[in-house]
Amino acid sequence: IDLIARSRVSRNVTYCCYDSLPIPFGLVNILGNRNSSYIPILRLPNWRVSRPVLIMASQPEAPAAEAPPTANPPSTKQTVDPWNVSGEVGEDGKVKAIDYKKLVEEFGTKLIDQAILDRFERVTGHKPHRFLRRQIVFSQRDLEVILNRHEKREPFFLYTGRGPSSDSMHIGHTQIFDFCKWLQDVFDVPLVIMLTDDEKFLFSEKRTVEEVIGYARENCRDIIAIGFDPDKTFIFSDYEYMGGAFYRNVTRFSKLVTYNVAKSVFGFNESSNIGKIHFASIQGSTSFATSFPHIFGDNEKETAKIPCLIPCAIDQDPYFRLTRDCATRLKYAKPSLIHSRFLDALQGPGSKMSASIDSSAIFLKDTPNQIKNKINKYAFSGGQETAEQQRELGGNPDVDVAYQYLQFFMEDDEELAKLGQDYREGKLLTGELKAVCIKHLQEYVSGFQERRAKATDDVVKQFMSVRPLNWKGNPRVERI
Ligand code: TYM
Ligand code: TRP
Repeated sequence: IDLIARSRVSRNVTYCCYDSLPIPFGLVNILGNRNSSYIPILRLPNWRVSRPVLIMASQPEAPAAEAPPTANPPSTKQTVDPWNVSGEVGEDGKVKAIDYKKLVEEFGTKLIDQAILDRFERVTGHKPHRFLRRQIVFSQRDLEVILNRHEKREPFFLYTGRGPSSDSMHIGHTQIFDFCKWLQDVFDVPLVIMLTDDEKFLFSEKRTVEEVIGYARENCRDIIAIGFDPDKTFIFSDYEYMGGAFYRNVTRFSKLVTYNVAKSVFGFNESSNIGKIHFASIQGSTSFATSFPHIFGDNEKETAKIPCLIPCAIDQDPYFRLTRDCATRLKYAKPSLIHSRFLDALQGPGSKMSASIDSSAIFLKDTPNQIKNKINKYAFSGGQETAEQQRELGGNPDVDVAYQYLQFFMEDDEELAKLGQDYREGKLLTGELKAVCIKHLQEYVSGFQERRAKATDDVVKQFMSVRPLNWKGNPRVERI
């Protein structure tokens, strides 16, 4: 059961909780201030509702101005949602590292533990990816469902996406795509990649439709350069693909979501444009196999049962909490999820690398020299002020950005552990650690740039054309 409304408490709603429900927080419905409406919930027959506990929130203040998304929340608490990522602000005014365990509790997801990693290895025959081994991909919803299906050779697909907000992606964005490519190779299943050009238009004051369409094309080339298999990968942009079976699902979805729900899940208010409120149904409906008849066929009854696995960073979870709730009501398979943490901003582990803040990010367009200068100049160091102090007191790799990046990029577990230990013991200086990081990033980015140069307009066309895909376990092919 997904408690879709738990992520966000807006000022002007009254929460009505029943404390005897066999669910962790017992949140059942939300009553709007003026016209009460209910979040429909799944109620099991044996649930007794007793002793309601009412938590009254304060009245709304002056007419709401356009608040989040995109505005920085005034709160000092940790905030992670599709528009804001920030650690808690401590009493000293400094932003703390993001507490990912807390997110698992708040969002109601599961930590990826050793048991599920062992099962992953048994079922797939592959040693878990370094992101899994290092808890970079740290959280999941219903991953077991996908492993069970893989074991029984039942179909499922992978779904991820990108909001084309600028013409170059950064190395934070590509992490989840690299991981997706690995999953595609391991599972041998179709992959659907959504480019939400419409979202980036609706959620920005400045961007024009023409601009975001251009960004979507450029980002598509970035994504192709990750190395996806064109036989098994469909990349689409919302502006191009909307219509047909996809749009039918989008409207089925939006009909189930009231304004009150959208408000409480995403924090919209009366001044938010209506496109934003509707957008969740677009990102959500991509989770349904019936949105892609060219891949899964026209038999909606059969296709409705095919679930997807969504790799994304944890900020995207609110969309899919809502989607899982709608899926049940539409009698579609619920999507499973696997969440990654963020690649930190260069300034440190309290915020994510962001395309809109140039000095926070290493872009895939950056030259080897730019990479070197950015790391040397901006990368937050967990080391001491001077070399002498570093040798004497040692450094802290847990907050050191260069070390954190190496956790993402360095394949060898032992080498990584040794660097961490040497740093802690003061055998390794900040400059030396940064040099290792720079080398890895330069190699990663230049390899990427070589592959990107090969992603011509024709290749883009190929990936984005509406066509059948071809994978080993495709039941439609086996039947033929
Ligand atoms: P977007 O374009 O903001 O981000 C694309 C993906 O990259 C993740 N991400 C990061 N991962 C690690 N470190 C970072 N610093 C970092 N910054 C962003 C995001 O979580 C995301 O997984 N609305 C979505 C597009 C979308 C989507 C989806 C994403 C549509 N459907 C399904 C995931 C799953 C967006 O604008 O993502
Ligand atoms: N909403 C994401 C953003 O604003 C883009 C996105 C769409 C996405 N579908 C996705 C990200 C699936 C990860 C997985 O950036």
